[in-house]
Amino acid sequence: MKEIIGVIGAGTMGAGIAQVAAQSGHRVVLSDTNPEQLLRAEQQIKKSIEKLVEKGKFSADSGQEILENLQFSTQLSDHSQASLVIEAIVENLAIKHQVFTQLEQVVNPSCVLASNTSSLSIASIGACLQDASRFMGIHFFNPATIMPLVEVIPGVATSLSYTQHIEQLITSWSKTVVVCKDTPGFIVNRVARPFYGEALRIYEEGLADFATIDWAMTEMGGFKMGPFTLMDYIGNDINYTVTETVFAAFYYDPRFKPSFTQKRHMEAGFLGRKTNRGFYDYKEGSTPPSPTKDPVLGKQIFERILVLLINEAADAVFMQVASPNAVDLAMTKGVNYPKGLLAWADELGAEWVLDKLESLFSEYGEDRYRPNPLLRRKVREQSKFIL
Ligand code: NAI
Repeated sequence: MKEIIGVIGAGTMGAGIAQVAAQSGHRVVLSDTNPEQLLRAEQQIKKSIEKLVEKGKFSADSGQEILENLQFSTQLSDHSQASLVIEAIVENLAIKHQVFTQLEQVVNPSCVLASNTSSLSIASIGACLQDASRFMGIHFFNPATIMPLVEVIPGVATSLSYTQHIEQLITSWSKTVVVCKDTPGFIVNRVARPFYGEALRIYEEGLADFATIDWAMTEMGGFKMGPFTLMDYIGNDINYTVTETVFAAFYYDPRFKPSFTQKRHMEAGFLGRKTNRGFYDYKEGSTPPSPTKDPVLGKQIFERILVLLINEAADAVFMQVASPNAVDLAMTKGVNYPKGLLAWADELGAEWVLDKLESLFSEYGEDRYRPNPLLRRKVREQSKFIL
């Protein structure tokens, strides 16, 4: 008999997580205080399962079984039999506390409790619990049914045995699990910041326009999407807020400084694809701008963004947030980077990366370009990040 899984919050993330668990053979209870949201989630999951059956991912019978294993509820008490409950409600600490305080009264003592939070600390959410040793972060990526990465984040109070159990369980859901420390942005939302931030900075300095920067990153770097196309896809409001939150959480470290350009786009309502206008115009009939395909400029842009990304990946390892392999897996499976950043550094040579950062640092004199000590160590010891 497989474990019973509870998911609280039937929005974008909760509905996806519930579907993933049900597809892995669990009985799943998906709850939400809003019955209309539950109905929408039910219809969305049904449609998605039907599509997967059509595509031959599983048989019609299995599809039916998955749907029968899903229960939709407005009652928190329906999670009483669960062995794991994942919360995916609004990103608000006070509301999450309310839900976990009530939930702890309902579930049995060995039930693991988890939050899908992107920006709150696991320690702060778990602080409302009587037993925080069974509480952790389980961070899925959007869309949860498609993105393979899950970050598992034990808090200071979490027991190792619970973390190990969840690592195994989520791996059995055909997900790639990386375990990381409870630090702002976990792995992906921290290490990815320069992809957006440095691209915006290059634009602000007048070195290149959006289309040229996007071209450099896709053509020269092999990234699936350029930073401006990606920010328009994510939404400038969401992407800007993540940057601002990470910046504040790192005590205003200049490496994470948000950009006025993105803020102004957000303020103007140029949120991206969802408003038909972001850095680009998506209205029908509009012509996309052409990049300046200058290979020298393109290389300069790509290399500048890449070395900052590598520096950030090195910092996450240096500060023990995660292992080098976990950092590389996170960036390839969570945000589809063409290569792991640390494997990329090994390929280019730590010395080459350090040289580029040193010259940026001496040109600008800004802390955002300071090379990470681990990179210096790799150069000194002539060793690689990935063994
Ligand atoms: P959403 O706004 O789509 O859904 C939130 C759902 O929670 C709504 O259906 C709402 O009715 C429900 N809800 C609110 N208060 C509740 C309560 N007290 N009890 C039960 N249900 C309640 O939000 P979304 O985007 O799914 O985000 C949920 C969580 O996942 C947040 O913590 C967010 O930071 C995190 N997250 C979001 C990602 C994204 O791309 N949207 C990616 C990864 C994590």
